[in-house]
Order: sequence, then structure tokens, then C-alpha cells
Amino acid sequence: MASRYYMLLQLLLASPLQASEASGLPFVINTWGGVFTAATDAAYLALQDPATSALDAVEIGCATCEANQCDGSVGYGGSPDENCETTLDAMIMDGETMKSGAVAALRRVKNAIGVARHVLEYTSHTLLAGDLATQFAVQNGFTEEETSTEDSLGRCAEWKAASCQPNYRINVTPNATQTCGPYTPVPLNSTSPSYSSLIAPDAVTTSHDTISMIAIHSSGVMAAGTSTNGASHKIPGRVGDGPITGSGSYVDSEVGGCGATGDGDIMMRFLPCYQAVESLRGGLSPQEAADDAVRRMVTKYPAISSGIVVVNNKGEHAGAGSGWTFTYAFRGGSMNETTVVTVPPIDSIQSTLRYREQLQL
Ligand SMILES: *[C@@H]1O[C@H](CO)[C@@H](O)[C@H](O)[C@H]1NC(C)=O
Ligand SMILES: *[C@@H]1O[C@H](CO)[C@@H](O)[C@H](O)[C@H]1NC(C)=O
Ligand SMILES: *[C@@H]1O[C@H](CO)[C@@H](O)[C@H](O)[C@H]1NC(C)=O
Repeated sequence: MASRYYMLLQLLLASPLQASEASGLPFVINTWGGVFTAATDAAYLALQDPATSALDAVEIGCATCEANQCDGSVGYGGSPDENCETTLDAMIMDGETMKSGAVAALRRVKNAIGVARHVLEYTSHTLLAGDLATQFAVQNGFTEEETSTEDSLGRCAEWKAASCQPNYRINVTPNATQTCGPYTPVPLNSTSPSYSSLIAPDAVTTSHDTISMIAIHSSGVMAAGTSTNGASHKIPGRVGDGPITGSGSYVDSEVGGCGATGDGDIMMRFLPCYQAVESLRGGLSPQEAADDAVRRMVTKYPAISSGIVVVNNKGEHAGAGSGWTFTYAFRGGSMNETTVVTVPPIDSIQSTLRYREQLQL
């Protein structure tokens, strides 16, 4: 719906640029073009003042998307869960110290990236979850307020009216592809047909976009972060890849950074951003590192929708994606506006296997 419209819009607005050379520092790059470019601009403009840190820039950029409800998939009022509630996942990572702070299934607080930053700055922990993350947020001065909107409640009501489709439950009775719950698990054994769907479920293709951003300060210090309201109609309590260090994003100032979006339930099993940054460290180019991380997932889950952006510490960047036309946005050096790059999806498992053979991976 809204998301498809924006994806089409992004496609139309995107310039047919391929992976680009460094445009200079400071530098900002994030998943998705279109409405997400307001976040790129906000972070880039903040970095024009050298007193703004890379962490500040990532927080400012992601908070811009949260406030703008980018595409309905970031911030309040989007992706209602089965109970019609909007909960938020976010993380932020310091590329100097490798410290990260994150919140998962955060309830009734809108500025998830801000709370994640507080976890990073004011605790020795990495990840706080659920109502108790809300308690921490309130202790730190964040406002507890409604995160549902008339729009998100309306979409949840439509979902219920459409027999609760699409639906993330499997191996339950009544059949979750046909009816709403409450559901009961059915006993499984290794010869029952449903057992195999547990091993390799097809990706549920609904909208679940995310902002993941990497910033490079003019000094070379890097930071990364992610903010999302997760997957629409998720099972309450579900946490996606967004707040998982190495999955939603990852950064090491000595090497580079990565940000991800897509079918988070699958992506978080592969830690694609950790993989891509370590591939950079091992000598792959940003394009090779991005392709490799996506192809590792496509090999096991051919239907996966995924997109990652990879940037080295010089600001050389590339993207790779599967299952949809992914776009990313960047602005660096003296660029007077943000550029959007369109990333064609990886086409097939066969090409993936050939690719991996060529790179001897
Ligand atoms: C559930 O319904 C779908 C669609 O009609 C069908 O393909 C599937 O086999 C059903 N699953 C079970 C366990 O009955
Ligand atoms: C395993 O599941 C299959 C298919 O649902 C069923 O026919 C079979 O009886 C089950 N076997 C056992 C040992 O429960
Ligand atoms: C940026 O510069 C280019 C080339 O000089 C120009 O065409 C474009 O309109 C400028 N964009 C903005 C937003 O100023």
C-alpha cells in the first residue's frame, strides 16, 4: 500500500548510478531513497559542524525518519502487531569502541534510536527489551505515549477482517493461512510435511523496511544505527534484525560499516552486516562484500527480500539486494544534494553459486 507506492516512487526518482567512488568526508549513507533521503540530509548537514559526532549524526538521521514515520515502517503509527500495537526496535553502534546500545520491542515510546543511544551512553549493557526498556526510557526523560495512530489501528482492523492474512504462524491449528487465532501448536515429527516448512519457510512477503545508516565524521570516526517498527502483523514480542548488532548494522572505524533492511527474521540468522564488514577487512571491495553477504542468504532462502549498504572507511560504497529493487541514499564531501542508487536484485541461485565459486568463497 503506502510502502509499495513509495517503493515505486523511489524507483522513479532513483538515478541509474552504479556503485560509486568516494565523494569525500564527512559522509552519510542509508538504506532506501525517497522519503528516507530527509534522514540522509539531516545527518549530513549535522556533520558540517565538526562538533557533531558520527554517533550524533546517526541518531539525528534515524530520529528524523522516526519523526517523519518514513514509509510507515519507521517510528510510531506503523506495522501494527497482531494486537494492533506498534512496538519499536533500534540500535546504534560506535565504530571506535565497538560499543552498541539497542532496544527491542520498545513499547509506548516514539524515539527508539534516542533510547538506544541512552543504553549505549548510560549503561554497561547492550540491549534492553519490552516494557522494561520503556521503564528505562522514562527514567531517562523520554515520554511514555501512545504509539498507535488511527491509521495503524485501521490497518490492523483491515487485517483482522481479511482473516488475519498475511500471518507468521506455522504448524498451528486452526490453519493460520486461512483463519485468525487463537492458535494451538500441532505435534510435529520428521516425516510430517509441515516439519520441512519449519526448516526453510518461504519469506512472508509483506512490507518491512528499515532505516539503517552509517556516518563517517570528517576525522574518520564512524558510527552506524538502525530504526524500525518491524514487520506488519508480527506476533507480539517479535524482535527483528534491527536491534541485533552485526545484523541491522555494524561498524568498525578501522574498516567500514554496513546497514541492512529486509526479511529480518531470516537476515538475523546470517549477521549480514558483521559478515560484510569482516569481508572488507579481509580485502573484498564494498561491492564484493555486499554481494557476498546477500548471496549467502539467497543460497539458503531463495525468496528472501534483503538489501544492504556497505561503505569502507574512505567512503567508497556499494549495495546489494534480493527479492525486490532496493535503493540506498548517500551524501558526502561537498555534494549539494543526496544521491539515490538503485540496486538490481540478485537474479538466481545459479548465478550465486557461480559467483561464490569465482570468488572462491
Ligand atoms: C492450510 O491451508 C493452506 C491453504 O488452503 C493449505 O495449502 C495447507 O495445506 C493447509 N495446511 C494444513 C496443515 O492443513
Ligand atoms: C508423523 O506425521 C505424519 C504426517 O502428519 C503422520 O502420518 C505420522 O503418523 C506421524 N508419525 C508419528 C510417529 O507420529
Ligand atoms: C546541485 O548542483 C548541481 C550541479 O551544479 C545542480 O544541477 C543542482 O540543481 C544542485 N542541487 C541543489 C539542490 O542545489
